[in-house]
Amino acid sequence: MVVSADRLASEAGLDILKKGGSAVDAAVAVGFVLAVVFPEAGNIGGGGFMLIRKKGGEAVVIDFRERAPGASRRTMYVDSAGNVTDKTLIGHLAAGVPGTVAGLLKALHDYGTMSARDVLRPAVELSKNGFVVDRRLERSLESCKSDMSGFPSTMSIFTRNGTLLKEGDTLRQPDLAATLSRIQEKGVEGFYKGETARLIAEEMHRGGGIMTLKDLEDYQAIVREPVRGSYRGYEIVSAPLPSSGGLCVLEILNIMEGYDLASMGWHSSGSVHLMAESMRRVYADRAEFMGDPRYVEVPVSALISKHYAGERRREIDPARAADSTSVRHGSPQGNEGRHTTHYCTVDASGTIVSTTYTLNDLFGCKVVVGGSGFLLNDEMDDFSAKPGVPNAYGLIGGDANAIAPGKRPLSSMTPTIVLKDSRPFLALGARGGSKIITAVVQAISNVIDFGMGPQEAVDAPRFHHQWMPDTLVYEKFCFPRDVIQNLEQKGHRLNESDGPLGELEAIAFDSSQGWIYGAPDSREGGVALGY
Ligand code: DON
Repeated sequence: MVVSADRLASEAGLDILKKGGSAVDAAVAVGFVLAVVFPEAGNIGGGGFMLIRKKGGEAVVIDFRERAPGASRRTMYVDSAGNVTDKTLIGHLAAGVPGTVAGLLKALHDYGTMSARDVLRPAVELSKNGFVVDRRLERSLESCKSDMSGFPSTMSIFTRNGTLLKEGDTLRQPDLAATLSRIQEKGVEGFYKGETARLIAEEMHRGGGIMTLKDLEDYQAIVREPVRGSYRGYEIVSAPLPSSGGLCVLEILNIMEGYDLASMGWHSSGSVHLMAESMRRVYADRAEFMGDPRYVEVPVSALISKHYAGERRREIDPARAADSTSVRHGSPQGNEGRHTTHYCTVDASGTIVSTTYTLNDLFGCKVVVGGSGFLLNDEMDDFSAKPGVPNAYGLIGGDANAIAPGKRPLSSMTPTIVLKDSRPFLALGARGGSKIITAVVQAISNVIDFGMGPQEAVDAPRFHHQWMPDTLVYEKFCFPRDVIQNLEQKGHRLNESDGPLGELEAIAFDSSQGWIYGAPDSREGGVALGY
C-alpha cells in the first residue's frame, strides 16, 4: 500500500512494490517523484524525517532536516530597527542546507534493497517526459506569483511565454532530469559535490546567499532512535528532536489520557476544552525547551513522562480556559541532560515507512537553483529569529531554537506509527506546520477514543490550539453553534480558519484479519493505491 498526496507518486511507489521492492525502496521512489510532480512541497532541496519500522519491531528515524549554513548568525534576520525581515522566508538567505537527497539515499543504502538507479528511474522519466499540470499546481503557482516573480530561474520553469502554467499544460523539467540523473549515477556525491554543488554555490553567489560548497560537503543525514510512548494501551512511535512532533504528540496524549473523553463525546464542548487546554500547555513547553539536541539539552524523558503529564493536567480547570499569557512552560524534572507533504508505504513483509518532508512554505524560498531545476527550502524560518517574535506558523521560541551555524531548526513534522500489542495499528503523519501535531493527535484520538474508522478519522473536521496566539482555531463545519457558545463561555477565543488545518495521510492495519486500509486526506486529494 502507498498513500501520498499525488497520484503519480503513489503509482510509482506501487510499481516498485509490485516489482518486489520493499516499503523503503517505494518510499524513496515516492520522495523523488514528488520532487518532480508536486514541486510545491516535494523536493530535493528541502528536508524531513523518515520513520522506518521493520516487522520484527526494529524502528529508526532518518533525520534529514536542513542545517543552518556555517556562516549563519543568531541575529542574521533582525534589521537595524530590531525587526525580523522576510529574508527568513523568501530568497537565498532563507535556505538551510538541503537534507533530502542524503536522507533518501541513506534510507535506501541502510534499509532498502534496490539501487539508486532503479528507484530514481520514475522521477527521471517524469521530469524528462513531463506530466500534466493539475488544478492544484495551477492554484499554488497563482498564489505565489508575486513572490516568485523576482527569481528568473524559477519563472523560466513555471511560465510559458510569460504566463504561469495552467491546468492541462505539460511541464517538462530537463534541468531537474539532469540533476536526478547525476544522483542516479553518483549517489549523494551527485548532489553534495561536483556539478550540482557547483550550481548551488553559484546560485548563492548570484543571489546574496551564504551556503557554501563546504556546507554541502559536510551535510549528513542522521539515524536516530524514535521517541516512544503510549496512549490508552496503544504504543506510539514517532519522530525525535530536532522535530518537536513526536514529543508534543506524546505530551498532549499523555495529558488527554487522564480524561474520559469517550464518555464526554466527540467534539462536545467538554472534550474539546480539555484537548485544547492540553495542546496549549504543550506548545508552551515546545517554545521553551525544544531545539536541536546537538546544541541544547532537552529534558526529553521528563517531558514525555506520565508523571509530568499529571502535573500539567492539574493546572487545567475543567470549567475555564486559561489565558495563554498566564500559562508558562512546566518544570519537567528528568535525569538527562506551509508546505510539506506526508506519505506512508507498507510492503508484503510488514515493513512500514512513514515520511514527512518539506520545503517549508509552498515552493520553499521560491528560488530555483539556476541550471539544476530544483527549488530551495525556506526552513531557516523554523528557527526562532528573535526571542518572542512569531514565525510563519505563529510559533515563538527562544534560546533553545536560536540560529547557530550547523544547527537544525526545530520542526513539527510527525511521522508516526501506532501499535497495538506490538502489531501495527496505524501509520500516519501530516503537513501543516504547527498544525501537524494537533492533526496527528486528533486522528489518533478519533480512532482510539471515539471508534472511528481510519478514513473517517482522517477526514473529520479538526481544531487547533498552540498556546500563542491564544486562539482556538477550527475548520468549517467543525462545531455546531451551541458547542461554540459553550466554548466561548468557558473563556476560549474561537476563530474559524480559512483553509484546512493540516492534511493527513494514513494507513490502518487490521492485524487480526490481515487487511490494510489506505486513508488519504480528502482535503488534499491524496491517493491510496494497493494491490
Ligand atoms: O518543519 C516544520 O515544522 C515546518 N517546516 C513544516 C511546514 C509545513 O508543514 C507546511 N505545510 N503546510
